[in-house]
Amino acid sequence: MAGIPSLFSTEGDDPATREVGQLLGGWMATQVVRVIAELALPDHLAEAPRTAAELADLTGAALDPLTRLLSAAAVYRIVRRDGDRYTLTETGDRLRADVPGSLRALALGFVAPPMWDALGRLGDVVRSGRPVDRGAPGGPWEYFERNPEVAGWFARAMSDGTAGMVQQMRAAGYGLPDWARRVVDVGGSRGTLLSYLLQAAPGATGAVLDRAEALAEAPKVLDDAGVADRVELVPGNFFAAVPPGDVHLLSNILHDWDDATSRAILRGCHRAGRPGSLLLVFTFLLTGSAGPPHPPLMDLLMMTVEGGRERTLPELRGLVESVGYEFLRTVPLDGPMPWHVLEFRIP
Ligand SMILES: C[S@@+](CC[C@H](N)C(=O)[O-])C[C@H]1O[C@@H](n2cnc3c(N)ncnc32)[C@H](O)[C@@H]1O
Repeated sequence: MAGIPSLFSTEGDDPATREVGQLLGGWMATQVVRVIAELALPDHLAEAPRTAAELADLTGAALDPLTRLLSAAAVYRIVRRDGDRYTLTETGDRLRADVPGSLRALALGFVAPPMWDALGRLGDVVRSGRPVDRGAPGGPWEYFERNPEVAGWFARAMSDGTAGMVQQMRAAGYGLPDWARRVVDVGGSRGTLLSYLLQAAPGATGAVLDRAEALAEAPKVLDDAGVADRVELVPGNFFAAVPPGDVHLLSNILHDWDDATSRAILRGCHRAGRPGSLLLVFTFLLTGSAGPPHPPLMDLLMMTVEGGRERTLPELRGLVESVGYEFLRTVPLDGPMPWHVLEFRIP
């Protein structure tokens, strides 16, 4: 957090006060980043430094509020003000749409209403022990169904994260066993994980099962990876039916759900397998206070948004074994994010 300016910290404050001020100011910084990204200001500024009036014309935003947003963005060093023009900084450059390592999808897909609204009610969740009650029809997936554009950003943000996991898999030399012929990515979204696995397994075919709105960009991702002719897209509901396969993938799925609901998904995978079929669970693991920061933070988000949870290895293992799978091994994927693959088999 060092160096991030905050509404609540002053130069004179002691380090602990400054740190709390920065933590409390985070909620404002988050929305500034999100709206800057939403208006595509970094893309417009990448073309040339511009005045607030030019940016208002380009984005259709109201001039006075936009000028004030730009002033706040300058405080956060997303833009720099030179005279009456704004220039994009290196930090702001990461919010452009099509640069390598772009974080625009994260800003638009993750700082989205289902997450933002739920986090605003974290206190209620902690006090009551129940996920946020949005009324019917609730839940992020229903929200995404009604808002396909946001669903697209969420799918891209997930896919960006999965691409990082794939890099760690590549570095670890992790792939499918030679005998795998039919691989089903359950809740596989844009197909980023399946694409990687099938590229390295030319004799295998696959299927991506997901909600229709999450599959919207899968054809392009699979095509770019050169595997589209080997993959079937299955719009559907993993609580109703899972396509048959000899390897089922669950990447970032079980953490969305409580144990009873996770078991329903796992039973569907088990029914769609045969003796010897594999289930590969791609996940973070909770490891206690000395572990990396991402699992407990993701755990909190899952708890708040949907009543899901990250789990320890014994918890996850017990959950998957409870529907009839046999645990084989855990493969840590070393790298910047604490990914693990848990391998299970139908006895
Ligand atoms: C957290 S994302 C994980 C996406 C992908 N597996 C990854 O690791 O990047 C969860 C996925 O589950 C999908 N999903 C949620 N409910 C579903 C359902 N009932 N049937 C099928 N897919 C569902 C969502 O659309 C979303 O793509």
